[in-house]
Amino acid sequence: MNDHEPTQDLHPDAAGDPTEQGYSQSTRMEYAEDTPSSPLDRPTIGEVIGARYGRRDVLRGALAMTAVATLSGTAGLLRGGGTAEAAEGAGVPASAWSFNFPELEAAVDETHHVAQGYDADVLIRWGDGVEPGAPTFQPMSQSAEAQDKQFGYNNDYVGFVPLPAGSDNADHGLLCVNHEYTNAELMFPNYQGTTEEIANIEMAAHGHSVIEVARGADGKWSYKPDSPYNRRISLRSTEMTISGPAAGHARLKTSDDPSGTRVIGTVNNCAGGLTPWNTVLIAEENFHGYFKGENSDPAEAENHKRYGVPGGWYDWADYHDRFDVGKEPREPNRFGWMVEYDPYDPTSTPVKRTAMGRFKHEGAETLENADGRVVAVMGDDQRFDYVYKFVSHGRVDHNNRSNNFGLLDSGTLYVARFNADGTVDWLPIVFGTGPLTPENGFESQADVLIETRRAADLLGATPMDRPEDVTPDPAAGRIYVMLTSNEKRKPDATHPANPRAGNSAGHVLEIQVTDGDFTSLRDRWDILILAGDPDDPEVGAKWGKATSEHGWFINPDNSKMDNRGRLWISTDGNSQEDSGRADGMWAIETDGELRGSSRHFFRCPVGAEMCGPFFTPDDGTLFVAVQHPADAEGSTFENPVTRWPDFDENMPVRPSVVAITPKGGGQIG
Ligand code: FEO
Ligand code: CA
Ligand code: CA
Repeated sequence: MNDHEPTQDLHPDAAGDPTEQGYSQSTRMEYAEDTPSSPLDRPTIGEVIGARYGRRDVLRGALAMTAVATLSGTAGLLRGGGTAEAAEGAGVPASAWSFNFPELEAAVDETHHVAQGYDADVLIRWGDGVEPGAPTFQPMSQSAEAQDKQFGYNNDYVGFVPLPAGSDNADHGLLCVNHEYTNAELMFPNYQGTTEEIANIEMAAHGHSVIEVARGADGKWSYKPDSPYNRRISLRSTEMTISGPAAGHARLKTSDDPSGTRVIGTVNNCAGGLTPWNTVLIAEENFHGYFKGENSDPAEAENHKRYGVPGGWYDWADYHDRFDVGKEPREPNRFGWMVEYDPYDPTSTPVKRTAMGRFKHEGAETLENADGRVVAVMGDDQRFDYVYKFVSHGRVDHNNRSNNFGLLDSGTLYVARFNADGTVDWLPIVFGTGPLTPENGFESQADVLIETRRAADLLGATPMDRPEDVTPDPAAGRIYVMLTSNEKRKPDATHPANPRAGNSAGHVLEIQVTDGDFTSLRDRWDILILAGDPDDPEVGAKWGKATSEHGWFINPDNSKMDNRGRLWISTDGNSQEDSGRADGMWAIETDGELRGSSRHFFRCPVGAEMCGPFFTPDDGTLFVAVQHPADAEGSTFENPVTRWPDFDENMPVRPSVVAITPKGGGQIG
């Protein structure tokens, strides 16, 4: 179905591209993140096909598991939220932990579960009204115009900013939520492929939502459907500007935008971050998947190949020329950026900040360095791609908030080289230095930023095992790097910072910055966790000594520090094969004798991954996003493996945001 038939050498991903034969969008997403486009690794066709069929088996296994659970009645038993006695078996007193919740049992069934003593309440679902005047969700008669005003699909990043602005109010604020992608087979009744109407609904279901939320006297959260703050940021209609060194460059100009400075919308918004001045950063991750066609600009051929453009996952190009690289070969260069917007002003124009580089941005967490400069740490989520940081030239202005709105336009982007001696060097990605010169095809900093990956290749950055969230711990002067997996890492290509061949479980790196300075150019790194089943010697897992059979996980994806400086991790991939486990949240000890010990807190319904963890400023609430529930082979709108969260025969399964609070109040964990 892909009308682009490149040669094997030109486009190694093409042969196994799961755009064929009815693969779900999630399968395509997982496949793309798992398929390298780095020149450092080219899989053979056999490997590609092997990966493809491996994934099919994985999904079939997840479905089978659910069927078994339902038939045996296990699901009903587990719905009450089984808990396990954390760590006592390891001879570790509960008081040794810095977390005090009773551990949740690792399992999988049709609904979500949280540790005893907590409530986990659904706050907003796909299709719920966001903008004033939004129509009631009608799953059997959806329209793009309705979806434009309703909560989008597959919630991912969640950020909370307090109301009133400038306060640290933990009970009232704005929830800012990404909608990463769509699962057509679960969204649309009688789905038989893309039509123009479906393409437009899919586009409307991408992007971002802002909702006003408040906590009532009963401790429960609700959102205000009529709030003037409520906003959908849409791929169909939201105008954005492009700023920074690449703005206005010829390689960003299209027929719709001869200026190279304006673009409609953002896509595949995965994780994100908040800035110190409480604007929201939303990441453009797998942007390549939305383009089709045969590239008509030879000057962009190598660039597009390095990013996997065109990915051909969606058929929007059949109805919108901008997604056809035959007609608009430079449109892909206008995606793959970090986008910043002001949630307090529903009329504000989002801005694509080109100084922060162009790659498959997982997210961007920021902090104010001791000297007032802002530092953003970022991952490029593909096998054998890199970890980055951005350091602003200017300093945060605490007296005039709007003075900070240009800080992310001017600064230095760095890529990480992890050395075998335990040091990590941050290599500046600056035109005219080292190999970043005209001899290598770079004429300006704009060229360097548009082709950030190629620049980083030339600098000798360290190819990693799929960098997802990168999270700073400002108080401890540390940075945690989630490396979700890399099954393609060969035994002769292991590296001390990516030490396992065929790394299917992933790991977590910890960077200790020098003298607490996040702008330092040389820091130290260590491995905090090698994920996977600690009882299986072939896995080679490394956990802290108090990790129970429920405490281990695979595939770390998102991570967050709570306000007491403790690390939490959410996962994507635990419900594989016959694991009997689901994705969810775990709390991790980072210091002392229990360092690396992990405790299970929340788990997702079958088929879902866990995204968006965010703590309110008082740690009184943890917001999480349940993404792609019921995503399993054979699972459809009509027959999903779960109808979470409504369990209503007239409602499809719906990705939703959940608010977790301690029963009777207090702090999480
Ligand atoms: Fe969208 Fe890298 O997860
Ligand atoms: Ca992610
Ligand atoms: Ca993910």
